[in-house]
Amino acid sequence: MVVIDGKVLAAKLQGRLAEKTALLKDKTGLEPGLVVILVGENPASQVYVRNKERSALAAGFRSEVVRVPDTITQAELLGLIERYNQDDAWHGILVQLPLPAHIDEEAVLLAIDPQKDVDGFHPTNMGKFWSGHPVMIPSTPAGIMEMFREYGITLEGKKAVVIGRSNIVGKPMAQLLLDAHATVTIAHSRTENLAQLAREADILVVAIGRGHFVTKDFVKEGAVVIDVGMNRDENGKLIGDVAYDEVKELASYITPVPGGVGPMTITMLMEQTFEAFQRNLDK
Ligand code: GUN
Repeated sequence: MVVIDGKVLAAKLQGRLAEKTALLKDKTGLEPGLVVILVGENPASQVYVRNKERSALAAGFRSEVVRVPDTITQAELLGLIERYNQDDAWHGILVQLPLPAHIDEEAVLLAIDPQKDVDGFHPTNMGKFWSGHPVMIPSTPAGIMEMFREYGITLEGKKAVVIGRSNIVGKPMAQLLLDAHATVTIAHSRTENLAQLAREADILVVAIGRGHFVTKDFVKEGAVVIDVGMNRDENGKLIGDVAYDEVKELASYITPVPGGVGPMTITMLMEQTFEAFQRNLDK
């Protein structure tokens, strides 16, 4: 069994990105800019946003985190986004999710200029991605594809099961696996005989958001198991969606939590910001 080390791979890619950024900065005097807008004080979101800022600065980007209270109105938030849309110094704009209930998430995602939408959540980017002309790809599944590449894991012809159907992870993950010629099933909490279905998978990606949900009964011997989960157990410890200790005995490759998918997600977000910057230079 091989543990896929997302932390080491992310650090390697971050290093390369910092070099590319420095080269372009020398040549043009310009640097990629990423702005992250955080509404309210969701503790998990605060941690994610801090990590994104740290990663952007390490890559040599201009980085700004705009923290606004959860009393902000929708109109004020849309106005804030529009200001960054108009400002050429910023190549990536990200609004951290989830948003407070009084704000319409779809309206917010629609307001971000698709060329600056480094999350890839704008319907224009989603449509391009689904029709086979990707510009911005959601970071978590993009990071998982990098892991497959790095570890030489073949996808072509393989049976892949994705557990979870979110717009952020499950659905785009299925699309990327399909593009890589896997045979893909999307399953979810209401799938009947889920464990039995999962046991058919050569590649099992789990993004269901329930701590230690996937036990050894869900895993075929030799399967590749990717755990996207970030949950807290009763002691506040960070745990994945996969019962790691028992599943690792069966898997050929497995990602740990923490130190698996998480660091890769952030690095891919930086890659997308760099690419948005580069496209802007080429214009
Ligand atoms: N909340 C959880 N994951 C994400 C993500 O990838 N992007 C944004 N904007 N918010 C999130």
